[in-house]
Amino acid sequence: MSATFPITVESSVCGTQPAWARVTQEPSLERRSALLALCRERLARENAVLVAHYYVHPDLQDLALDTGGCVSDSLEMARFGRDHPARTLVVAGVRFMGETAKMLSMDKRVLMPELDATCSLDIGCPAEAFTAWCDAHPDRTAVVYANTSAAVKARADWVVTSSCAVDIVRHLNARGEKILWAPDRHLGSYIQRETGADMLLWQGSCIVHDEFKALELELLKREHPEAKVLVHPESPASVIALADAVGSTSQILQAAREMPASTYIVATDNGMFHALRQQNPGKLFLEAPTAGNSATCKSCAHCPWMAMNGLEGLAHTLQTGSGEIFLDADLAAHARRSVARMLDFTAAQKRAMSAPGALVPGLGAA
Ligand code: 13P
Ligand code: SF4
Repeated sequence: MSATFPITVESSVCGTQPAWARVTQEPSLERRSALLALCRERLARENAVLVAHYYVHPDLQDLALDTGGCVSDSLEMARFGRDHPARTLVVAGVRFMGETAKMLSMDKRVLMPELDATCSLDIGCPAEAFTAWCDAHPDRTAVVYANTSAAVKARADWVVTSSCAVDIVRHLNARGEKILWAPDRHLGSYIQRETGADMLLWQGSCIVHDEFKALELELLKREHPEAKVLVHPESPASVIALADAVGSTSQILQAAREMPASTYIVATDNGMFHALRQQNPGKLFLEAPTAGNSATCKSCAHCPWMAMNGLEGLAHTLQTGSGEIFLDADLAAHARRSVARMLDFTAAQKRAMSAPGALVPGLGAA
């Protein structure tokens, strides 16, 4: 869809200087079996359920599925945690995912293997600066990505994830609302191109997706002309322009399952390849390039904060109750309002889309 309004860039707060990450050690085979047994036993004993993101270690993804938990995108993680009867949610992912789970279930205990696992988008959008930006634009509806702190969510009108962002902004645009978008500039400009909405964009970015390179992707496509390209919308516009399908992690998986092609080039964190290969045994998945002539160095395409989640940390959390998320009740209530809007919107959309023959909501083509 062509844009109705020009994209206006207003803020440039996106520093990741205070960030750090700890690489987890891969346990020996013997230790791994012992840790898996211990985690299973503790999950059952603590009436706990493991809610994991597709980017975390395959062992945690498999454990979540084997023990009645879930592996999903950030929208489904929020829904699953809210609706599951377990008294303890163990969230394997990054901090904003644990905070979202907590604000939706204040009566549950929410634990994370690594409380320091953050996100460059969250770091790059401090609540004070975001609040000042909102205050400077009182005529605009503040829509923020889920990859933000509880304080930013509390100041926003809407929270969205990549699986529903286009649909929600399209809905707001149809109501004549002008948008203040934070923090991911690539996702923001993708939404703007898709909806034609009047959007002011914060200038954050994901340190993983920002690294995909269009020039090298073109070359790889030439080597594999039969391949379909699946792209997460946190990637640069030049990469999205080469995509056959654009969507959240769950939507990328769905596209891979449903498309008839046998080869796919995938531009998202390489943690995704575990589920992609598990669910599509006969298909070939190639990583989209992060290096080449248009890059000075090669990124590993794996989020350093997702990588902080490991079996040792999970076992420790389950044994000691460490890594608990606490949120101020007032702040949580404010943040919950904007998250609940998203959950209500997507639930209504799901009911409408469950009619036979309906298309996947929010899964876009470039
Ligand atoms: P999804 O909602 O698509 O899982 O994305 C979360 C995320 O952090 C992607 O980098
Ligand atoms: Fe944040 Fe990017 Fe890591 Fe996702 S992959 S958690 S957006 S830094």
